Amino acid sequence: MSTELGCVEHDTLSLSPEEQAMLAGEEGPGVRKAIEIIVALGRIYGARRLVPVGSVQVAGVSYRNLGEAGLRFLREWADQGARARVPALLNPAGVDLRAWRALGFSEEFAARQAAVIEAYARLGVDATCTCTPYLVGNRPRLGEHIAWAESSAVSYANSVLGARTNREGGPSALAAAITGRTAAYGLHLAENRRATLRVEVRCALRSVADFGALGHLVGRAAGNRVPYFVGIEDAPSELGLKALGAAMASSGAVALYHVAGVTPEARAGQVLAHTHERLVVDDLRPAYAALDTGSQPVDLVWFGCPHAGLEEIAEVVRLLRGRRAKAALWVTTARRVRDRAASAGLVAALEAAGGRVLTDMCVVVAPMQELGFRCVATPSAKGATYLPGHAGLQVRFGSVEECVEAAVRGAWAES
Ligand code: F3S
Repeated sequence: MSTELGCVEHDTLSLSPEEQAMLAGEEGPGVRKAIEIIVALGRIYGARRLVPVGSVQVAGVSYRNLGEAGLRFLREWADQGARARVPALLNPAGVDLRAWRALGFSEEFAARQAAVIEAYARLGVDATCTCTPYLVGNRPRLGEHIAWAESSAVSYANSVLGARTNREGGPSALAAAITGRTAAYGLHLAENRRATLRVEVRCALRSVADFGALGHLVGRAAGNRVPYFVGIEDAPSELGLKALGAAMASSGAVALYHVAGVTPEARAGQVLAHTHERLVVDDLRPAYAALDTGSQPVDLVWFGCPHAGLEEIAEVVRLLRGRRAKAALWVTTARRVRDRAASAGLVAALEAAGGRVLTDMCVVVAPMQELGFRCVATPSAKGATYLPGHAGLQVRFGSVEECVEAAVRGAWAES
């Protein structure tokens, strides 16, 4: 049905003339397919309109998850002339696209991974592969609508930056990039951004791992609700918030949280819903017991989940104090962050200790069975949650200091 404004209503969903033209195929079959996906999601979730997005982060990048069927799907969409019309980058891939051979990954996997990246490049997506777009110059503004896919990035954008995104799937994020739009439902709407779980933290948070442990516990209790934290107003650095959000997004499905007096929407006004539940956290030991479960000697130590920033790389180098690592020591990061780390001498310092600063990849989605590692140490609660099931690795979970010591000794120091 047409309205006076030239909008067409699909159930409750109104489309602008430009969106109607996309749906009619006037911009080609690739764009029509993309807007069909956005409109279908809008109808399912009762959206009333589409909103322009400032940027997109696309998931479904590791060939291990995508496979030949996924690669074919991307190529066909590119053949239909679809191209991203807003800045779009990729989630991490399965291997470092340059260093895969030195790491021992197979040529066969690396070639298929390269084919995936090439397909995305044809679709106009920036080949930067990272779960921290906000560390490579993409920091959305407060209130800006975006369409990001990786759960920790979604949490950071919504919570720490106050941008607005649902957790997109691979096709829906790509469709948002191609149309420059997403359907206005879920966390795009102010009424869904209010917290319904008040979390009172009554224990000290001394490390980034402690923030992850807190997030692990709260995520399990919260499910997909929006938590509101009190009691950590003095503690959090951006690193702590990054770890907190990543952990809640993996043990639960938390895509937005607020911290009293800290995160932008909590600073701006009342974000706790009148009707809410209460959760008290006064002990982090249950989280450590759940995450620190390995029994084998540590043969890989992994930092950079989510991808490390410059200060995290510098911290690892500082804690090494010039010592050599016995275990393999990997720091994963975005390529542009690695370039900055190289200019600062951090890459050379880490390599002198026997470590590597890797780009593009994530250990969780890498074909780790090709390399023969058995037990990985990490300060990432998110990594510790996913590594056993996704990569078949045992996990030791602890602070950055404990993980650096594990790298140097090749063993975990039992406390
Ligand atoms: Fe990023 Fe992989 Fe961790 S996508 S948040 S490094 S599990």
